[in-house]
Amino acid sequence: MKKANLIDPKNDQDKKMFLPCVRHHFGDEDITFVEAKGAVLKDSHGREYLDLLCSHGCATLIGYNHPAVVEAVKEQAGKLYSLAVDYNAKIVSDLAEKLLSVVPESFKKVYFANAGAEAVEVALFLAKKHTKKYEMVSLYGDFHGRTHGARSLLGFGPLKKGMGPMLPGVTRIPSYYCYRCQLGLEYPTCNLQCAKLLEDALLYDTSSDVAVFVTESIQATAGNIPAPNGYFQEIKKILDKHNILFFMDEIFTSFGNTGKKFCFEHYGVVPDMITMSKTLGGGLPISALLTTNEIAQAFAEPEPPLYYTTFGSNPLMAAAALANIETIMKEKPWERAEELGKYWINGLRKLQDKYDVIGDVRGKGVMIGVELVKDRKTKEPAKEESVRLKKEAGKRGLILPAGQGWLGNTIRLVPSAVMTKTQIDQALHIMDESFESIS
Ligand SMILES: Cc1ncc(COP(=O)(O)O)c(C=O)c1O
Repeated sequence: MKKANLIDPKNDQDKKMFLPCVRHHFGDEDITFVEAKGAVLKDSHGREYLDLLCSHGCATLIGYNHPAVVEAVKEQAGKLYSLAVDYNAKIVSDLAEKLLSVVPESFKKVYFANAGAEAVEVALFLAKKHTKKYEMVSLYGDFHGRTHGARSLLGFGPLKKGMGPMLPGVTRIPSYYCYRCQLGLEYPTCNLQCAKLLEDALLYDTSSDVAVFVTESIQATAGNIPAPNGYFQEIKKILDKHNILFFMDEIFTSFGNTGKKFCFEHYGVVPDMITMSKTLGGGLPISALLTTNEIAQAFAEPEPPLYYTTFGSNPLMAAAALANIETIMKEKPWERAEELGKYWINGLRKLQDKYDVIGDVRGKGVMIGVELVKDRKTKEPAKEESVRLKKEAGKRGLILPAGQGWLGNTIRLVPSAVMTKTQIDQALHIMDESFESIS
C-alpha cells in the first residue's frame, strides 16, 4: 500500500497558481486540510492536528464547524443567499438587532462589511466625516489590515516597504509593549509614560486637527501584547480633553477571546467606535463597525450613499453570524477563555522555568504570547529557534503558531475555548518535547 505522503502534489500546484504572498504550509511539509471539528483539523491523509491558531482566532470561541452555524448556513442557503444591499433582508435585520442588543447601549448603529480591514476603512472615513478633521493617531506595533487606509495605520515599517506613499496625516506613538518598553522604563514605576506621550504627540507632531485615535484592543499581530492596567484610561482622559474620537479595533477580540465579552471591558473604557470580524461570523467572512447615533449621523448624506459594498450585508453570512452570536450568548465562551487562559499561562510558565529560550509569557484569556529569546538579558529575538519549534510541533500533530509577531520570535497562541484540559495537557506535552528537541 502506498505510504501516506504529507507532501501533497496538489499543494505544489497551488503554489504555482497563487501569488507568492499566499502561504499554504506550516511546519516542514505542505499539508492540505479537508475537515475540522472543535479544536481539531484533519488533513487529506486522515491525520489529526490540534490547532492553536484556530483560523487566526475565527474559530476560537465556539470551535470549528459548530453545528448551530452549519445548520443556519444550510437553512439560509436554501432560502436566500444573495440580495442587493439596496434591499432589506430579514436575516440581516435580525442580526443587527441581536448584535446591538449584546453590546453596551451607547452603540446604536451598525454597518456590515466582509473583512476586517474593510470595516476599519469605513470607521476611518466616518471618523473624518463626523469630526471634519483629518489626522489620525495610532501606535507602534498596531495592525488593522492590509488595505491602503488600514495599512497606513500600521505601526510596523517592513509591511509598508515598496508599497508607495501611505496616507498622510498619521502619527504614531510608542506602544505599551512592556517586555520591550520603547521608552526603556518598567511598569508600574513608569507611571504610564507611553500613554502620556499622546499629549506630547498632539502638541508637537500633529496640527491638532486629529479626528481619531485608532488602537487594537490587544496588539495581536505584533505578538499578543495586552495593555497594562490603567493605560487606556490614561489615553481616554487625553482624548476627551482634546475632543478626539476613540476607535478600538476589536476584530480579534470581540465576544470573548480575552476572557471578557469585549476586550475594552478589561480596561474600564467604552470607545466611540468598535470593529469586529474574526469572531463575528463563527469562522465565516463578515465584519461590522458599531458606533453611536451621533457619529453615525455623519453618513446620513449625501445621495448616493457614501459607503456600501456589494457583498456587505450578505444574508448567508448574516445567518452564520446570527447563529454564532446566539450560541455565544448561550455558551458564554469568555468564561471558558478566562479559565483556560490561566491554565495555559500556568503550563507555559512551567515550560519557561525549564527552557531559557522562553523570555516572556503574557496574555489575556486565550490570546497568549510566548516570546523566544537567545538570551534573557539581551532579549535578542530567537527567530530561527521559533521556526524550528513550529516544525517540531507540526511533526507531532500540533499546529503551533510560532515564528510570529513583528520580530518573528513569538508563539502567538489563540487556542480554542472549546479545548478540554486533557487536550491542553497534550498540547503542552508536545510543546515540551519540541522545546527539548531544539535545545
Ligand atoms: C486587529 C485586526 N484588525 C484588522 C485586521 C484585518 O482583518 P482582515 O484580514 O479580515 O482584513 C486584523 C487581521 O488580522 C486584525 O487582527
